[in-house]
Amino acid sequence: MTAPPSAPCVGSGSPAFHRRAGELWCEGVPVRELARRHGTPLYVYSAAVLRERYLALRSAFGAGAHICYAVKANPNLTLLARLHALGAGFDLVSGGELMRLQAAGLPTRGAVFAGVGKEPWEIAAAVAAGILFFNVESPHELPLLAEAAAAAGRSVRVALRLNPGVDAGGHRYIRTAGGDTKFGIGLAAAGGVVEAIAGTPGLELCGYHVHLGSQVQSAEPYRLALDRVLEFVDGAAVRGDGVTHYDLGGGFAIGYGRGPALDVAAVAAGVLPALAARGWRAVLEPGRYLVGDAGILLTAVLGEKQQDHTTFLLVDAAMNDLLRPALYQAEHPIVPVVEGATGERLVDVVGPVCETGDFLGRQRPLPPCRRGDLLAVLAAGAYGASMASNYNSRRRPAEVLVDGDTAQLVRRREASRQLFADEVDLDEV
Ligand code: LLP
Repeated sequence: MTAPPSAPCVGSGSPAFHRRAGELWCEGVPVRELARRHGTPLYVYSAAVLRERYLALRSAFGAGAHICYAVKANPNLTLLARLHALGAGFDLVSGGELMRLQAAGLPTRGAVFAGVGKEPWEIAAAVAAGILFFNVESPHELPLLAEAAAAAGRSVRVALRLNPGVDAGGHRYIRTAGGDTKFGIGLAAAGGVVEAIAGTPGLELCGYHVHLGSQVQSAEPYRLALDRVLEFVDGAAVRGDGVTHYDLGGGFAIGYGRGPALDVAAVAAGVLPALAARGWRAVLEPGRYLVGDAGILLTAVLGEKQQDHTTFLLVDAAMNDLLRPALYQAEHPIVPVVEGATGERLVDVVGPVCETGDFLGRQRPLPPCRRGDLLAVLAAGAYGASMASNYNSRRRPAEVLVDGDTAQLVRRREASRQLFADEVDLDEV
């Protein structure tokens, strides 16, 4: 049987999510079928979007760039394996993320490790794993890194994370390059830290790192930040000695239904000529750009309720499943899985969690829905499942990866007993 013709799913950010006869499909699979098989709430990911986005970055930055996927955006082992197969290294921020790579049997040599508060065991584990380099954010790390280097009997490569004071916009919770954030080292103080690295046996300065924030909407801040870093490096010979890499961080924005993703070719055009002139290799740390538009969250309608002037559509996904609307007032497009009903009105789409801040979308145009109807929250692949919690003792969602006509369960829904498994029999410890 031939499938009905396909039309774009507006707001999804990729043709991989499309409609056939009014119904939402992910690649070759109708998502309603996945909800029937695995229940809701359910994250559904498209392998085609991962490939599409990885290849867009690769063609923008060329074969010489090292693309390190920011694991925090979505640490699912199967997604990590898929990104590795495409050629990605990894950007880590914890020992737990390192263990995920190891659990998936993935190489750790292409990984970089950032974070303002690395613990000694995390540093030791990353040194033992032979990662590419550490992104150093604070002088207190230097003796810890030197100790780990001595214990391992080899030197450790470090890139210094600079905070060039470039405002890249975005919600204030995800801006990182301003003077009053905890990240990186301001240019005024960085010279001293470079000297300290150069003077510490066992440490090798191999590069500089800058991460401007997340959901950065234009290429300009990346160029501006590099200009400031180069000016800093040119301030003293020791600052350029041994430098081989420039890690421009992640932050590439996606559209969330309001436009296209950031033009990564423009970012590349803004930084690659200056890097080539120095013979430095570009490192990137994209998270959201690779996986954000690759995922949707499916949720089923539980009921509807009118309160004063607001119509509330109660659904079975909540802030514990997708925290972004509650935490950052993020607006994800929300669409019916099966289109066709007429009579759109504005509704607040809310979950069952006992908080007024528990909403997935406010004042959204949606047609009348009946109990059991499915909605899709779009562009939910980044910082969705990865920030999910068990708040209200709710089980976190299952996750499915679609590739062509095949769908694979890549994370089971938690069992209720897992919610309290670590609290029983504690007297035995
Ligand atoms: N590199 C570093 C050092 C980072 O801190 C981050 C994100 C990334 C790379 C990846 O950024 P991306 O390409 O995904 O924008 N939970 C927030 C986003 C927090 C981002 C934290 N750091 C959200 O849901 O919008």
